[in-house]
Amino acid sequence: MTTDRFDFKAAASALAADGWCVQPGLMSASATRALARECTAMHDAKLLLPARTGAAHTASALRGDSTHWFVTGAMSAPQQAFAERIDVLRIALNRELMLGLVECESHYAVYRPGAGYARHLDRLRDNDARVVSAVFYLNEDWRETDGGALRLYLEDGAYRDIHPHAGSLLLFLSAQFEHEVLPATRDRLSIACWMRQRPLGAAG
Ligand code: OGA
Ligand code: MN
Repeated sequence: MTTDRFDFKAAASALAADGWCVQPGLMSASATRALARECTAMHDAKLLLPARTGAAHTASALRGDSTHWFVTGAMSAPQQAFAERIDVLRIALNRELMLGLVECESHYAVYRPGAGYARHLDRLRDNDARVVSAVFYLNEDWRETDGGALRLYLEDGAYRDIHPHAGSLLLFLSAQFEHEVLPATRDRLSIACWMRQRPLGAAG
């Protein structure tokens, strides 16, 4: 896998200047395809579970996706490759921006046609551990008419629609940007990932 096509410095500068960016090149096309194939196979095998929201982990009408969390020590080769790359990015962001990010948590997500995720913030009310949200998209040949944009709300009511094209990585500051997933007309696959400023299981 080529590992030099993602511009880590550009990502860090954009994050510092604007709080968000979209960049290609985190994974090779073949590694991206391997993730998409595995995500589809696991979804077909009913290994993805309806997602929950909020600290209480209650089922919610807010989101219609199914997810599979990547488990440290039990990752497939494609998951491991993704986890290694996102960790290189985490370390680069620490170096450039001194964010103190200690780890990443990631899950596959599949939104069936018609499913979305209502406008929300990735930071839970009583937990400030999530600092950077990263969403890596797995959908080959996505067309804008397929829907499924991530709508990122900026200041003063403006928004940007980010289309979930295979190989695109969206980064944004978790505390700052409300966003929603618009329904699509076909299955929509992604890896959602959060870079955290303290380990899972720690207080707060
Ligand atoms: C999330 C989320 C966005 C996406 O899982 O919190 O906002 O584009 N996902 O999949
Ligand atoms: Mn979100």
